[in-house]
Amino acid sequence: MSAEDTLPWVEKYRPQSLDDIYGQTAAVGTIRKFASEGRIPHLLFYGPPGSGKTSTIIALARELYGKNYRNMVLELNASDDRGIDVVREQIKTFASTRQIFTTGFKLIILDEADAMTNVAQNALRRVIEKFTKNTRFCIIANYANKLNPALLSRCTRFRFSPLTNDAINGMIDHVCKSENLNITNEAKISLIKLSGGDMRKALNVLQACHASLDNPSTEEIDQDMIYDCIGAPKPSSIDTMLNAIMKNDWSDAYNTLIKIRRIEGLALVDLITSFVEILDKYTLKPQTRRLLYQGLADIEYAISKGGNDSIQSTAVIGCIKNALECESM
Ligand SMILES: Nc1ncnc2c1ncn2[C@@H]1O[C@H](COP(=O)(O)OP(=O)(O)OP(=O)(O)O)[C@@H](O)[C@H]1O
Ligand SMILES: [Mg+2]
Repeated sequence: MSAEDTLPWVEKYRPQSLDDIYGQTAAVGTIRKFASEGRIPHLLFYGPPGSGKTSTIIALARELYGKNYRNMVLELNASDDRGIDVVREQIKTFASTRQIFTTGFKLIILDEADAMTNVAQNALRRVIEKFTKNTRFCIIANYANKLNPALLSRCTRFRFSPLTNDAINGMIDHVCKSENLNITNEAKISLIKLSGGDMRKALNVLQACHASLDNPSTEEIDQDMIYDCIGAPKPSSIDTMLNAIMKNDWSDAYNTLIKIRRIEGLALVDLITSFVEILDKYTLKPQTRRLLYQGLADIEYAISKGGNDSIQSTAVIGCIKNALECESM
């Protein structure tokens, strides 16, 4: 087994160049233009997890500086060293060492900057100004609104959206091909849906499913494996439960719900989310819909406040049955 084989796929398939980034065409296009003109501003990347922020800046560094890009790049994880003093020292040392062989600026990547305290962010704007002559900063965050406006105004912003289905599909196809992995179309569609635009999640689930196959060269990954691996309720189980609640008497509905939940180890909140997804597609009177969603929302809130699980389970059944009674009136 080589080192390659033991790597998590998110690392093994981390984009090596800007061309390898799936989706994010607007952001990548603009960044490439800046790079080709040799005038990179301070950058701010923000967006949800697993959308390619860290990968994009590393790919850019590789394109700017070649294989030994690490000498020219300082990567700081802002959420490790929250104190600004540590950050400032590291930046100062890095920015002030002479570049002997290369010209141009160095790159400082401040990942997860939204975890920095407000005081630290404030101090950072002075640091940025001081070292602009020979360094460029790339600030990365999940939420731009957690960053200090003064910091924001010093950077060119790039929003990384959750990845589209096409982008995730492209990557899954690529990985399956390199790994000689077979996946049913149905499973792939579920994987894309459940990953919610997060490529890291998609790859991790795919790798876990791959690991659970006894013989990956002949077996294929099916839809149930994807659901089992994520721990999300299977569509068939959701159908069975919802049908029992809508059509059967109370005790049968209750027993079906409890049984399936126990076998599959499902959390009640996940059930509610799945029920809502299905009920969304039903044609219902507006009044029914209001009752239904308001009721389910209350239950979801009660769960988050530590409400008793079996009581909340019965509340879900009651809420759906009530709403349906309203529908038939
Ligand atoms: N746009 C993309 N194209 C190809 N692979 C991607 C893309 N986005 C993410 N990935 C894959 O997911 C992994 C994690 O991505 P990355 O570290 O860039 O996410 P991030 O946006 O920085 O997320 P976080 O906010 O959690 O730090 C990468 O190693 C890569 O394998
Ligand atoms: Mg990142």
